[in-house]
Amino acid sequence: MIAVDAEKCVRCGACVRDCIVEVLKPGADGVPCVASGEERFCLNCQHCLAVCPQGAVVCNGVTPEECAGIGPLPGAAELFNLLRQRRSIRQYRPENLEPEIIDRLVEPLAWIPTGCNDHRLFFTVIREQREMAFFRAEMSRQLNLLIRTGIMRLVYPGYKRYLEEIAGGKDVVFRNAPHMIVAATPRSAPCKEADPWIALSYFDLFAQTLGVGTCWCGFAVHAFRWNRRLRKRLNLPPGYRIGAVMLFGKPDVQYARAAHPRQTVRTSDGVMHVRQSQ
Ligand SMILES: Cc1cc2nc3c(=O)[nH]c(=O)nc-3n(C[C@H](O)[C@H](O)[C@H](O)COP(=O)(O)O)c2cc1C
Ligand code: SF4
Ligand code: SF4
Repeated sequence: MIAVDAEKCVRCGACVRDCIVEVLKPGADGVPCVASGEERFCLNCQHCLAVCPQGAVVCNGVTPEECAGIGPLPGAAELFNLLRQRRSIRQYRPENLEPEIIDRLVEPLAWIPTGCNDHRLFFTVIREQREMAFFRAEMSRQLNLLIRTGIMRLVYPGYKRYLEEIAGGKDVVFRNAPHMIVAATPRSAPCKEADPWIALSYFDLFAQTLGVGTCWCGFAVHAFRWNRRLRKRLNLPPGYRIGAVMLFGKPDVQYARAAHPRQTVRTSDGVMHVRQSQ
């Protein structure tokens, strides 16, 4: 429910203009309101709450006083450094992150955008190395089984170059990372494919600012979908499906410089094409 305080409202119309689904309209007295029967179309996006200069809007029980003010942003140069210097970390110190760091890492997850503001992402965070040991052991068992039965040859012909490592017990999937975060969405979410990847991209970038290294773990997404024991351990709510997985922990590697990937840019007739290349 959207409630507008008529005493505070100066009828500027900012909330009406910013309501994406156009359910917020000026009432007879000029104070915006949502007509009865229209509430079900409201996305609960809180744009009206955020844009109101008077702090007059309460959005589904959330008051302006509860919201953070507008703080300073990192400069373009710092943000560019962050994007340019981020690397996938596959060497981790064999220790848990401090619990306070993990608590800080998960805090921004609430602000992740989701398609149609679905906002039903579910995250499982493995906070301790001893819990990761379960996933590592089960994954090793599963990989060896897939190889023995010949299924691996069918699903991933390139597996042969990892044979020795897998047989030798090397953790080719979880990279000996002390932690992992798994993002899941309900099967009914409008953007169930994109939302988890966007979520962990946010997580990834924020992690760098706390000195935490990360690595996408695409193989684990498939493994969780095939293997019931792995999936069960995540304790997902009913109807949820795993979307993206990221490893994280203290890096045991330092980079002396950023990489220098190639890119070509062509502009013609008001259109720009930017092509990545190897
Ligand atoms: C995967 C994805 C697809 C989206 N598609 C659209 C879209 O087609 N049109 C649109 O207006 N907004 C789109 N959005 C924006 C969301 O509706 C928006 O992020 C959400 O309502 C929360 O609002 P905020 O981004 O202002 O926090 C999309 C967002 C995501 C994550
Ligand atoms: S929460 Fe979003 S969709 Fe709902 S009334 Fe406010 S601006 Fe409109
Ligand atoms: S933005 Fe605030 S002050 Fe302006 S019309 Fe909406 S409720 Fe009133």
